[in-house]
Amino acid sequence: MEHTFGDSLGHTILVVDDSDVNIEIAAKILQPFYKVSGCTSGKEALQYMEEQLPDLILLDIHMPEMSGFEVVRQLKQKEKTCQIPVIFLTADVERDTEMRGFEVGAMDFITKPLSKDITLRRVGRVMELSHLQRHLEHEVEKQTEKARQRKEQVERLIDQMINALANAIDAKDAYTNGHSVRVAAYSREIARRLGKSEKEQEDIYYMGLLHDIGKIGIPDEIIKKASGLNADEYTAIKEHPAIGAKILHGITEIPGLDTGVRWHHERYDGKGYPDGLKGEEIPELARIIGIADAYDAMASKRSYRDVLPQNVVREEIRKGKNVQFDPRFADVMLQMIDEDVDYQMCQQEKEKKKS
Ligand SMILES: [Fe+2]
Repeated sequence: MEHTFGDSLGHTILVVDDSDVNIEIAAKILQPFYKVSGCTSGKEALQYMEEQLPDLILLDIHMPEMSGFEVVRQLKQKEKTCQIPVIFLTADVERDTEMRGFEVGAMDFITKPLSKDITLRRVGRVMELSHLQRHLEHEVEKQTEKARQRKEQVERLIDQMINALANAIDAKDAYTNGHSVRVAAYSREIARRLGKSEKEQEDIYYMGLLHDIGKIGIPDEIIKKASGLNADEYTAIKEHPAIGAKILHGITEIPGLDTGVRWHHERYDGKGYPDGLKGEEIPELARIIGIADAYDAMASKRSYRDVLPQNVVREEIRKGKNVQFDPRFADVMLQMIDEDVDYQMCQQEKEKKKS
């Protein structure tokens, strides 16, 4: 049978005891300070909590049909009731009973017959603890959410800054407009097909975006010269990978970011620049960016020629296997070309999609 006593303060305490007398005693003590409800069995208490949730439960251990331990076990299984603090009421002074009570999740014990002072103190303390705990959990959740939002904001900012840098590089030469983004996208796709992790794919994308950053340090008149570079000018342009690596050297949060930049003009046969590395000596990421870069140079317009036909580009990649390109990555590139039946992977198509 359910009893409701008084409504003195906001917090509700549910007293569960198979003896009406014990409920009355508890109510008398608590009523001046709390709203008190009573249930005379575990089953009744669980039903009560389907409808309303008390702030604390005073729970008798020894009851016919369902013990206090069982009531707590069932409360702990449900999300809406698992946090309600429980104080066991017991006539036992047995250590085992107390231990078991704590194990199932009780916050405290009060021995019967109830003493007014002890009951009020223990109830007050548990109430306060539980309030603090809830407040702390809420605070932790709030701070975690704030940290997550901040992290996302920083990641977005990094992404936007790197893209802005890539645009700055491409803006040096109208004919390389969008080149960095395309190289980044092709490099990431090659990495994906090679089974690289999401993180590696992201890193290579950023490397692709910045692979030509060293061109910032090359005079515009050399960059913009369509063809016919003299020996000095050619030497100057060949410095862009090393300049780029120097520019990026200080970015330690993306380790190896300068790798693809410094060695994207190395060749598999060792005849590239700046260091003449050969085969596997060239870092893998740089070999991937190297082939994506060479592909895009052919699949985009130059001042002196239009986009090369797809079959010509394909043939150049095929011929470059083991010469300019790592054969494994060349095969991946060839596979991408063969799947690209409408020649979407070229400058015009990409620009059309953007507009
Ligand atoms: Fe380059």
